[in-house]
Amino acid sequence: MPQSVITNDDLSQIVDTNDEWISSRTGIKERRLVKEETTASMSAEAAKRALENAGIQPEEIDLIIVGTITGDYVTPSTACEVQAAIGAVNAVAFDINAACSGFLYGVSMAYAYMKCGIYKKALVIGAETLSKIMDWNDRSTCVLFGDGAGAAVLALSEDEENSGILAFEQGADGAKGMVLAGRDRKNNNPLVKNSTEPEYVHMDGQEVYKFAVTTVPESINRVLEKAGLKPDDIQYFLLHQANIRIIQSVSKRLHVPMDKFPISLDHCGNISAASVPILLDEVNKKGMLHKGDKIVMSGFGGGLTWGTCVLEW
Ligand code: ACO
Repeated sequence: MPQSVITNDDLSQIVDTNDEWISSRTGIKERRLVKEETTASMSAEAAKRALENAGIQPEEIDLIIVGTITGDYVTPSTACEVQAAIGAVNAVAFDINAACSGFLYGVSMAYAYMKCGIYKKALVIGAETLSKIMDWNDRSTCVLFGDGAGAAVLALSEDEENSGILAFEQGADGAKGMVLAGRDRKNNNPLVKNSTEPEYVHMDGQEVYKFAVTTVPESINRVLEKAGLKPDDIQYFLLHQANIRIIQSVSKRLHVPMDKFPISLDHCGNISAASVPILLDEVNKKGMLHKGDKIVMSGFGGGLTWGTCVLEW
């Protein structure tokens, strides 16, 4: 996470907002914003800590996938920058753009490569510097997001029957993509007049809300059914941290109490692809995960996209 903490009160000095509005509608109290940090520097730091936690050397990693919509360069990819920074000389490295589902899409891809026998040890990272694509004059979006990175090491299990990813699904609904959109850079070629459309992220919050509260519980139910599990079998549901009201609604629709939905959005805000791996790390560091626990992870957002998996820890 970046060093600098920005509270809701701090934001009220920048745009016409207040802690009561932000807290009551989103659950967010504060977020971190980059000053010196970059998407690649946060990713590399998260990667180093994940490798240390897994007891794995960088040379052993053969795949690096970074889910991000806010890389520092168009090329090299953030994954290539991470590879260089950590010395993972034997890894293939690339980024994927699946917005808030980026980490879950990355996990699914790493899983598929491993199942095919192509790679054995992967580093999957979710990382964002969302503060650089926000309009800091638009109070309806800039208060929601934060910056940060999270990483996980995935390795092919010796004991394939009894651990790891039990089921997953990915989905996309491109027809609704413009409800959460941000344009890329302008084209300055001689044939194109510069666009006057906004280049920052804009969002139809209510449409995103409707999408999330219907798609996420349906996706979780499908994944549980594939794995032959019921919601009661799950220790924790680690959901993308967009908004407390979305998480409360999913909890209600699944008939699962809120204490099975750990929360980090109060101190992180919405960090898109980074939010699920950061939450997983927080839960792990608090000693809440035990071998054999079944955990659901679900990401959802821009694209529109979603990705859900159930795994045995
Ligand atoms: N501070 C104070 N007032 C504000 C702010 C703010 N930061 N932002 C908007 N308002 C005002 C609006 O101008 C509007 O005022 P008006 O009635 O005078 O016109 C009023 O608050 C209501 O605005 P709405 O946009 O209708 O607010 P809503 O109740 O829908 O809440 C929110 C907005 C919280 C974004 C909601 O739509 C939501 O939860 N959406 C879910 C989408 C989401 O979380 N997106 C995150 C990114 S996507 C993802 O990660 C999945």
